[in-house]
Amino acid sequence: MALAIRTHEQSLSPEQESLREEALRGFAASPKTMSPKFFYDHRGSQLFELICQQPEYYPTRTEETILRLAANDIAELAGRNASLVELGSGASRKIRLLLEALRPARYLGIDISREFLQVCTRRLAADYRWLDVHALCADFSQPLKLPAEALGQRPLAFFPGSSIGNFDPHEARAFLRNLHRALPAGSGLLIGVDLVKDRQVLERAYNDQAGVTALFNLNLLERIRNELHSDIDPRRFQHRAFYNEAESRIEMHLVSRQAQRVRIEDRVFDFAAGETLHTENSYKYTPSGFRELAGECGFASVAMWRDPAQLFSVHFLRRE
Ligand code: AVI
Repeated sequence: MALAIRTHEQSLSPEQESLREEALRGFAASPKTMSPKFFYDHRGSQLFELICQQPEYYPTRTEETILRLAANDIAELAGRNASLVELGSGASRKIRLLLEALRPARYLGIDISREFLQVCTRRLAADYRWLDVHALCADFSQPLKLPAEALGQRPLAFFPGSSIGNFDPHEARAFLRNLHRALPAGSGLLIGVDLVKDRQVLERAYNDQAGVTALFNLNLLERIRNELHSDIDPRRFQHRAFYNEAESRIEMHLVSRQAQRVRIEDRVFDFAAGETLHTENSYKYTPSGFRELAGECGFASVAMWRDPAQLFSVHFLRRE
């Protein structure tokens, strides 16, 4: 007879512990906030992949088209025997496009999720036998120490997707300064940056018809309910995303449909009807605004490419 094992979990994983700290801090704040980094559990990452396929969400496919068209120029700027350092996953089609165009000597993938990093780097090593593949499990929003043997002589850091837009300008500067410290002089930085544009186009991208972005936003509450001791009911909240023109950012919120009391562990938090939990900012830049920000952090502009509709930009910067 098979033995039935019932596993009992009492303590939280380190990731759940930081979700708990963030929820207790953010729900007590006024206005209530949560960091967007908690969107990305397994289901959240799957929903994000789906967002990228929605017709209204232009950034992913536009950046890919720009990279495809600029690949030869990028390869020339990166030079031979480059080391490609990817900040984030190695799962996208974009990295494959660059590997094929640049034929770098080395690839270093950096990600906070050890499991995801292992899967992605193993896959790249299997598909590109000629490539020397390295992996570093680290939070790149914190100061980084990059392994010298993975950097070689000519590192090119790659930060796609306008992920820099999810930092506020102060955090974006701190991130670029950390990267400046971690990279040797002369290194390249290839970075995708979403552009300021017509409000309608922006708001449609974050309010897709199929409702995937709404599910992605609400999944944060599912996580709180499933992973913490909480009675929060996601059905009592509604997704809202709008362009805040004064701040040049899309804001995402979860709006309380009614006056309600939410419990997390032994703490209670009151929401008024219509009160929001602010879950994400996605900053949009002008080309000159971004160049200026990068310049302040020691990265000089070398080249920039945009799509014909000027929806998205890819900058090649040189670490001074
Ligand atoms: C990952 N990041 C750049 C996305 C963005 O557009 O800010 C996250 C996202 N949020 C809603 N849709 C997509």
